[in-house]
Amino acid sequence: MADAAEFLRRLSRPSTSVSGRLWTAMVGQGSRTPVCPETPRLDGKRTLVTGGNAGIGFWIAHGLSVRGASVMIAARREDLSREAVSRITKETRNGVDAVRLDLGDLRSIAEAAGKLAKVASDAPFDIVVLNAGVWPKAYGTSAQGHEIAFAVNVLGHHALLKRMLSRGMLAAGSRVVVLTGDIYIMAANCTPDFKYSGAYGGMLAYCRSKLGNMWFAREFARHHPSLEVVVVHPGVVATGLVSGETGVMAGLNRSLLLAPKAGAQTPLLVATQPGLGRAAYFHNVGGQMQLSANDPAANANRAAHFWGVLEKLDGLR
Ligand SMILES: NC(=O)c1ccc[n+]([C@@H]2O[C@H](COP(=O)([O-])OP(=O)(O)OC[C@H]3O[C@@H](n4cnc5c(N)ncnc54)[C@H](OP(=O)(O)O)[C@@H]3O)[C@@H](O)[C@H]2O)c1
Repeated sequence: MADAAEFLRRLSRPSTSVSGRLWTAMVGQGSRTPVCPETPRLDGKRTLVTGGNAGIGFWIAHGLSVRGASVMIAARREDLSREAVSRITKETRNGVDAVRLDLGDLRSIAEAAGKLAKVASDAPFDIVVLNAGVWPKAYGTSAQGHEIAFAVNVLGHHALLKRMLSRGMLAAGSRVVVLTGDIYIMAANCTPDFKYSGAYGGMLAYCRSKLGNMWFAREFARHHPSLEVVVVHPGVVATGLVSGETGVMAGLNRSLLLAPKAGAQTPLLVATQPGLGRAAYFHNVGGQMQLSANDPAANANRAAHFWGVLEKLDGLR
């Protein structure tokens, strides 16, 4: 595991070829992934982690709680959220809570935002980690009829943040951490009406949504300059997203990929460390990624167009 200060100084100019990026993602993950320092302490800070009941998100929530923050988990499976709250509370001796949120349904997002507003009536959230994500195994749509990876991974988070902003739950200096996957390099676009079948189609939908996360983070930072927005690739991590939670592939991946706790270290680092730069993109192996002009994520026009699509669909206008 790499030293955090060395990691934050690390700059990479990543390849735009898929094979180059996959190589970077996989080789030396174990030794190059940073460990988040125990400082600064986060006592008195209010934090929110979407998808904080499982996988990488559980360990992000755990890590924020260990550092003294008050943590709110937002996810669908309430039994799993209860288990996560109980385990984190016991292990960190700090207050953790959960709210039900289905990012694939704009009505659920509005409901969850209402509950969060009550929790945050005295002070805004200091750190919001947009971690929840889905990798569809088959074609599916959200409650509002949009392709499911687009809906959950991007539109739902966009709608949640807009509601948090409009209800004063984010303030100048609040940090928003967006989880992407460097596998976005396999995509050329992200749209609400993408159609596919089979597992390969589901992978493409996931890659497209992760490109959408890159564009969303860039535009969110541009439209809300008082917020600190950071985007992060956590590593290739053995979670339910990649291989399911049980079975042969899950077992194999546990021996080959980063453990979820290690996968949470780069997101925790960019959530807690000062002075990271506007919409900077951090990669667990590459450090800060300086994207070339022909990288799809660096296309300002496509990002601005994408933002327009999100604004139309999030139900707030
Ligand atoms: N694992 C990797 O190798 C990898 C690599 C690059 C990027 N990432 C990114 O890291 C993030 C976390 O992934 P992970 O690997 O930890 O996945 P995971 O273990 O499958 O966890 C996904 C989390 O998202 C929540 N979620 C899924 N659908 C949701 C919905 N409709 N509404 C609200 N919450 C929902 C799940 O909780 P509920 O089901 O209870 O809602 C769960 O907590 C994702 O954004 C993923 O794209 C992962």
